[in-house]
Amino acid sequence: MHNNHITAFHSDNTAGASPAIAQALLEAASGIQLPYGADTYYQSVEQQLKDIFETDLSLFLVPTGTAANALSLATITPPWGATLCHPDSHINHDECGAPGFFNPGSKLITVPGADTKLDPQALAWQAQQKQGDVHSVQPSSVSISQTTETGSIYQLQEINAIGEICAEQGLALHMDGARFANALVSLNCSAAAMTWQAGVKVLSLGATKNGALGVDAIVLFDQTLAQEMAFRRKRSGHLMSKMRLFSAQMEAYLKDDLWLHNARHANAMAARLAQGLSHIDGIELLSSSASNILFLRFPEATIQGLLQQGFGFYYDRWDNGVVRLVTSYAHQPEQIDCFVSAARQIG
Ligand SMILES: Cc1ncc(COP(=O)(O)O)c(C=O)c1O
Repeated sequence: MHNNHITAFHSDNTAGASPAIAQALLEAASGIQLPYGADTYYQSVEQQLKDIFETDLSLFLVPTGTAANALSLATITPPWGATLCHPDSHINHDECGAPGFFNPGSKLITVPGADTKLDPQALAWQAQQKQGDVHSVQPSSVSISQTTETGSIYQLQEINAIGEICAEQGLALHMDGARFANALVSLNCSAAAMTWQAGVKVLSLGATKNGALGVDAIVLFDQTLAQEMAFRRKRSGHLMSKMRLFSAQMEAYLKDDLWLHNARHANAMAARLAQGLSHIDGIELLSSSASNILFLRFPEATIQGLLQQGFGFYYDRWDNGVVRLVTSYAHQPEQIDCFVSAARQIG
């Protein structure tokens, strides 16, 4: 018996898979398919993405977001190059040096900004440092996360401003979209407007946190990068022979707007949590509830009381009393209400 019945808010990867994706996996497990991405599901995913993004593109499926990010950055950054990113970005904070491992010699240079978003002025300044100086890594790419690691969301004009700086300074723009769908439904804009139309050249498109069991996509809007990416994916061990395991999931994820439906649900659950908790004395909401990640300050007794009742979440990692709650497609309104009422009773 492996089902754990606690209500977990640790991350959106504590949930399993949407039923439609689990079913697609079962179906893909039978029959013959050509290996290494020549399966019929893969072709169909590529077409789905072309329709969604309203442009031609190249698709590379990988098993993790870390692989998607590190391979993307390696493909747009020379070994003597630097990627400019936020100090709290996943690539800087949580990927165990993968960008440097996949592209030895390259560096991440951090650029500050409120709300985990790059400050355009600071970015423009940093982009001009050491240009042409043979003693220093050369600013070559920029990476932004949409949704960011703290749940904030870049507005379209903010992405456009960063895209313009990249164009002026000759930098390639990467978007870490581990939670791309959560941002997309929150902004209620087109996928094209949030990416290539704003200057994004490469997108890591996550599905694992939003209903898949495990698959992420590298989407190249600049197709001149495709051949290099193909070799990089293979030599890093990320070209799966039974690719259908991944492509079948992605096909079901995108089909009938399941990805958008799941993201809307996850965001709505976070908004419900925020709404309920913000009325409890002693609890302070530290972030907006525009996506599916919330940061709050809880009294110590509330943290301990909730843990004792079997609720799960990360706390004290950022500061004493700071709690992170992440909702997913799988949370039910009753679970949210149950958590809120437990917090109210303890408080
Ligand atoms: C912003 C962001 N990018 C990328 C990832 C990808 O992580 P993983 O390699 O665990 O799939 C995560 C996961 O937590 C994330 O939050």
